[in-house]
Amino acid sequence: MMLQQKLKLLLNENGRSAMRRAGKFNAELMDVIRPHVQAGVSTNQLDKLAHEYTSDHGHIPAPLNYQGFPKSCCTSVNEVICHGIPGAYVLQEGDIVNLDLTTIVDGWHGDSSETFLIGEVSEEAKALIQCSFDSLNAAIQILKPDCPVSDIGEAVTSRARDAGFSVVREYVGHGLGREFHQEPSVPHFPNRESQRTLLPPGICFTIEPMINAGKRLTQLDPTDGWTVRTKDLKLSAQFEHSILMTETGPEILTKTQNGPQPGHVF
Ligand code: MF3
Ligand code: CO
Ligand code: CO
Repeated sequence: MMLQQKLKLLLNENGRSAMRRAGKFNAELMDVIRPHVQAGVSTNQLDKLAHEYTSDHGHIPAPLNYQGFPKSCCTSVNEVICHGIPGAYVLQEGDIVNLDLTTIVDGWHGDSSETFLIGEVSEEAKALIQCSFDSLNAAIQILKPDCPVSDIGEAVTSRARDAGFSVVREYVGHGLGREFHQEPSVPHFPNRESQRTLLPPGICFTIEPMINAGKRLTQLDPTDGWTVRTKDLKLSAQFEHSILMTETGPEILTKTQNGPQPGHVF
């Protein structure tokens, strides 16, 4: 990364406050929608809730029209890894669904997601959701000022491996700020670039591990150009937080009041 670019990405106290406000609103939105994620509710209804609550508060749903995305949030059911488009599908008992929310508050982004169990789900689904949740929290826990991005990939990958699951490689966490997706790239597996990239105080980014029950390989839906599924059509789960690195360690910007807290057993 060039020095000029690096400086622009590092937030001063004003930028940090703005990102705290964006993250807080995004978390509040998750708290508002969570009780509605239930059997009998369509993913379109969840999208409508996200759009209305965001607009009513004077903010902007970031996904809407982002590179042509047609809706205000992503709803990824069962074998869908990410970028599922809300539609007529009605959630049913036994499904798992990831709700990914991103809001623009006064020009700054908050981005977070949770995977929900619809009624009773299979033991495998539960273990997969647990692994995805625990791997996100483990990755946050090991963060230190100036640590390499690859520490995140190590933390996620070792948990997935222990649980017998796989980690998606084609889609990654990302820097976050005035842009939805910016540097640095935050892969959930270690590689040479992430070993060389450090996380200094003032940087903002997401961690959003996508964990597959079967193989890590993905397929993009050719008809809508967005929906990403597991190649083997086995289940996938994901959780996401927006993080600010400070001089004393990581700050989770999208912590919710009512969502699962670290240590939660699904
Ligand atoms: N919220 C997703 C992420 O975590 C990105 C969704 S892009 C969209 O990066 F266009 F599908 F909304
Ligand atoms: Co997201
Ligand atoms: Co993200």
